[in-house]
Amino acid sequence: MVRYGIVGCGHIAKKHVAAISKTDGAELVAVCDKDPERMDPFAREGIRAYTDPGQMLDDGAVDVVSICTPSGLHAELAIRAAQAGKHLVVEKPMAMNLDEADRMIAACEKSGVLMTVVHPNRFRPALIELKRRMEEGAFGTIGHANATLRWNRNQAYYDQAAWRGTRAMDGGVLMNQAIHNLDLLLWLMGDVEEVASYQATRIRRIEAEDTSVSVLRFKSGALGVIEAAVTVYPRNLEESLAIFGEKGTAVIGGPTANWIKCWQFADLTEEEARATVARVEKDPYGVPGHQCIIEDMTEAVRTGRKPKITGEDGRRALELVIACQRAAETGRPVRLDALKT
Ligand SMILES: NC(=O)c1ccc[n+]([C@@H]2O[C@H](COP(=O)([O-])OP(=O)(O)OC[C@H]3O[C@@H](n4cnc5c(N)ncnc54)[C@H](O)[C@@H]3O)[C@@H](O)[C@H]2O)c1
Repeated sequence: MVRYGIVGCGHIAKKHVAAISKTDGAELVAVCDKDPERMDPFAREGIRAYTDPGQMLDDGAVDVVSICTPSGLHAELAIRAAQAGKHLVVEKPMAMNLDEADRMIAACEKSGVLMTVVHPNRFRPALIELKRRMEEGAFGTIGHANATLRWNRNQAYYDQAAWRGTRAMDGGVLMNQAIHNLDLLLWLMGDVEEVASYQATRIRRIEAEDTSVSVLRFKSGALGVIEAAVTVYPRNLEESLAIFGEKGTAVIGGPTANWIKCWQFADLTEEEARATVARVEKDPYGVPGHQCIIEDMTEAVRTGRKPKITGEDGRRALELVIACQRAAETGRPVRLDALKT
């Protein structure tokens, strides 16, 4: 059995609990929250409860620690856990700056432990189909790509916990919400060379940004556009990802990017394209992304192979967020290779 402990028993921890319980060979043995009441829904016989993360890290029965605390606390906890010899499942964003991310990666290497970062959208059926088409070269030369996140996180969402909407702990719409979309763009399109960006706090009463628009140039020469906002009235409207190439157009959309909206390729007949759309529509959500990640991590720990989403992947998404933020702050384009922290 690969035995998991969870630090931070809030909203997302529930998905970790469900994922661990559905994964063969995985078992939840400990939970930790500084607020004992937050652990009540997780209390079960055989699950130890800690209010101090240090005590959980001393628990020899824990092999893997899932870090589900506010984002600004991930790095410190992850480094301590790695030093204690625990493998890591770290919620996104893995850290709030590149120095923290580098120290996390180095601590894992030094202790010989594995780390995965939770970017569950990669496991959506429509996005798996899109990745396959990219790997087959079906688009030919790619002109541009677009990621759009038009969501609603209302004021009550920000008011429910003091960390939400702060720069230090939450980081704003790109860091907290759209980092998944940035991760998908990098996964599909490869590295980014340069970004320009505008960001603003337009509607929510928060310290960090609620609205962000950015343009990118990928190393391949393709261009990209990212629009992200948590201010869309009155509810989530759209999360989409589009790729436009010389021989193909693909748009994945809906309120969450689970549906194929356009699927046209020079090497596919209309019937073949429709068959892919129908296959995705039969099961648009697939296996929950958190479960895919826990299954992958469990196998990685058992076999010693790398997880599918590594610390370096988490760092790449974080780096793109920071590049956009830096470009918005300075009013100048930012090259990613010049970014230090
Ligand atoms: N991958 C995803 O799809 C996804 C979705 C939502 C949230 N998240 C991420 O998960 C993390 C947590 O988000 P949430 O919505 O569950 O937050 P939350 O506020 O609901 O829960 C955080 C919990 O951490 C506890 N905590 C705070 N400091 C602690 C400490 N020092 N030691 C132990 N426990 C501590 C709090 O008491 C709280 O119970 C964030 O990093 C967020 O970005 C990821």
